[in-house]
Amino acid sequence: MSETLERWGSRRAFILAVTGAAVGLGNIWRFPYMTGENGGAAFLLLYVVFVLVLGLPIMMAEILVGRAGRRGPIHALAHLARQAGVSPHWRWLGLFGAVTVFFILSFYSVVSGWSIEYLIESVNGNFSGRTPDEIGASFDAFLADPLRMTFNHTLFILLTMSVVAAGISGGLERLNNLLMPLLYILLVVLVGYAVTTDGFGTAMAWLFTPDLEAITLSVVLNAMGHAFFTLAVGACALMAYGAYMPDHQSLPRAVVAVAVMDVAVALLAGIAIFSVVFSQGMDPAEGPGLMFVTLPIAFSDLPGGPLWLSVFFLLLLLATWTSSINLAEPLVAIFTDAGLKRGKAAALIGSLVWLVGLLSVFSFSSLSEVTWLAGMNFFELVTTVPLEFFLPIGGLLIAIFAAWVMPASTAMRALDAGPGGFRLWRGLVRYVSIPLVVIVLLSALW
Ligand code: PFF
Ligand code: NA
Repeated sequence: MSETLERWGSRRAFILAVTGAAVGLGNIWRFPYMTGENGGAAFLLLYVVFVLVLGLPIMMAEILVGRAGRRGPIHALAHLARQAGVSPHWRWLGLFGAVTVFFILSFYSVVSGWSIEYLIESVNGNFSGRTPDEIGASFDAFLADPLRMTFNHTLFILLTMSVVAAGISGGLERLNNLLMPLLYILLVVLVGYAVTTDGFGTAMAWLFTPDLEAITLSVVLNAMGHAFFTLAVGACALMAYGAYMPDHQSLPRAVVAVAVMDVAVALLAGIAIFSVVFSQGMDPAEGPGLMFVTLPIAFSDLPGGPLWLSVFFLLLLLATWTSSINLAEPLVAIFTDAGLKRGKAAALIGSLVWLVGLLSVFSFSSLSEVTWLAGMNFFELVTTVPLEFFLPIGGLLIAIFAAWVMPASTAMRALDAGPGGFRLWRGLVRYVSIPLVVIVLLSALW
């Protein structure tokens, strides 16, 4: 494999693509329910700390490797390892990333399918005039209906794979980013509504006054996994995007811009959702259904609610679509690099992901009691292990490779932040990020 000469059209295009990968279900769906299940402010605090000391520096490490290698992850790692005089076995890290994105994509598609269902329902006005209890009950009924869920899951796989097969993700990213400001506006409007509810004060206190005693090992592990997941770090998926990064662009600056946008979406969604939770007397630890129950309730209280609810689910769908393309690209690339046609590779990966996704679909009905590991059903398993273990392990190895194995001159050029910026980044990765991931992982496995 030789070096790619392709580049994103502009610096902005690179930031838009990475933002498209970052902002998705992690922010609007997973962040709120994980915060709910992990006790609120303690989780939020840890998540922000992990984004700063792990997510950002390791995200730079990951993109830097792709940028220095100017190839797909597997070839970039092998090439750079050879250049550094170490074993090309580092390429297996790229394959490990592929395994990680495969399992993530399998449930990502199922849950994105839920937003397709909710988009259709809200366009049909099915939520207007319904009581909160009815809204909750209709979500449960949906989960219990594997046929409807399979339909939406199938649709989402087709949406993702057709864009990947046609190689037109750039167009979708432009659309996504054109519409992204609207997502922020809608979230701000929702927060404005949240302020008027009785639950707002409780929600703010619950989100922003951490009780340090609530920090348990599992809260720490969950927060770390979520920091990697939400920034799309640790699976070599962003490494693939780094290969096309323009020659002159500060990587730290680009990455910080993405992280700010990513965290902002999560915080706005969290404030809106927990205000509804506390004003309706709901359970914050309600689980994966949290957003799908609270947001229809919130919008139904607003003027023009049904319309805005539809717009919201459309934007969410677009956001998850660009993320799932980022998940699928490295998988497809493995097969196109091996000589398969793009369309065939996309069809192959799409079918496999679809099949495995069915196990998640049925985890809400016939397979709900079938446990695979530590009492978890399949959906619980794939929404936990790849995020909480695979991503941090992948991120750890990427960080070791970028900060210890790669020659400093190569890494410094790819970071593009000057000698001072480089030393700061490398010091942070070497002496803070790497030890921290190791400590958390070891204590968790213990
Ligand atoms: N960052 C995405 C989200 O928050 O929804 C999920 C994701 C995309 C994770 C791509 C990992 C990845 F490689
Ligand atoms: Na995210």
